[in-house]
Amino acid sequence: MIRRFETDALNTVRDLVRWGASRFREAGLHYGHGTDNALDEAYFLTLWALHLPMDLPAIYLESTVTSAERSAVIKLLRSRIATRKPAAYLIGEIEFAGMPFFVDDRVLVPRSPIGELIRRDFEPWLQGAPERILDLCTGSGCIGIACASQYPQSEVDLADISSGALAVARKNIKRHGLEQRVRAVRSDVYDGLGDATYDLIVTNPPYVGTAEWKGLPEEYRHEPRIALEAGSDGMDIVERILTGAPERLRPGGLLICEVGDSVEEFDARWPRLPVTWIEFEHGGDGVFLISREDLVASL
Ligand SMILES: C[S@@+](CC[C@H](N)C(=O)[O-])C[C@H]1O[C@@H](n2cnc3c(N)ncnc32)[C@H](O)[C@@H]1O
Repeated sequence: MIRRFETDALNTVRDLVRWGASRFREAGLHYGHGTDNALDEAYFLTLWALHLPMDLPAIYLESTVTSAERSAVIKLLRSRIATRKPAAYLIGEIEFAGMPFFVDDRVLVPRSPIGELIRRDFEPWLQGAPERILDLCTGSGCIGIACASQYPQSEVDLADISSGALAVARKNIKRHGLEQRVRAVRSDVYDGLGDATYDLIVTNPPYVGTAEWKGLPEEYRHEPRIALEAGSDGMDIVERILTGAPERLRPGGLLICEVGDSVEEFDARWPRLPVTWIEFEHGGDGVFLISREDLVASL
């Protein structure tokens, strides 16, 4: 039999995953939006295009695909290479803290380790369930919506300066049926929240320095610049979050904030702030917490 295209030789799910991983490596793609290597990225996209669950029993990897299925998978894998868009933008969805979220290029692709913290009830730092929660710099709304799902009695504000991000967050509020308890608010840090106060402020703000942002791989350039870059050392928004937090937190309240790889920059600005750096089981770092009382005493 004469094969017309090299891809005609790909018969099984496994063949497609292997081919995709080879092409991804050949093209020098960058990972970091849900997976961290070519094989996992190819596996994820292949199974998604075939409408199969990610925990597919291995025996089905040997299944033969139809020619229509093969074309659909190859089209998706090729578009990952041609566009350099993160996989989540190509399929319009990502899982965060065990929940599905709609995403597009108006929001950062959710990947904060804070998801793990939410699922473990912020243990051991949070005493009891918080009633009023603020997800500051909410993007897709993933952090605040996951908090609302974890604490069914809570009321949650999702705040962002970007109206595009808020449109996505509203879609996700609706998707999870949380319109009664979760609201999306346009706000420049705290300026837009009226006089609301909170038991818990959780935030994954922009924290990348300008020079670092300019050197990021192409995949990150598809994410809104305003979601990543925050001044020369990346700490411009973090500074506003810290200084305004005492007024927004109720007595005994907690601020939890991600600064990712910018821990050095954070320490340089606030060398004596008594923050606790959180350890994660499933990877990630650069997330600190501080109580209202410690903030008031130290700022
Ligand atoms: C790193 S993204 C985080 C998105 C989401 N929380 C997550 O973890 O996926 C930061 C978000 O902060 C928003 N942002 C940037 N500057 C802001 C400001 N001055 N006030 C409020 N939100 C801001 C951006 O629009 C973006 O959605």
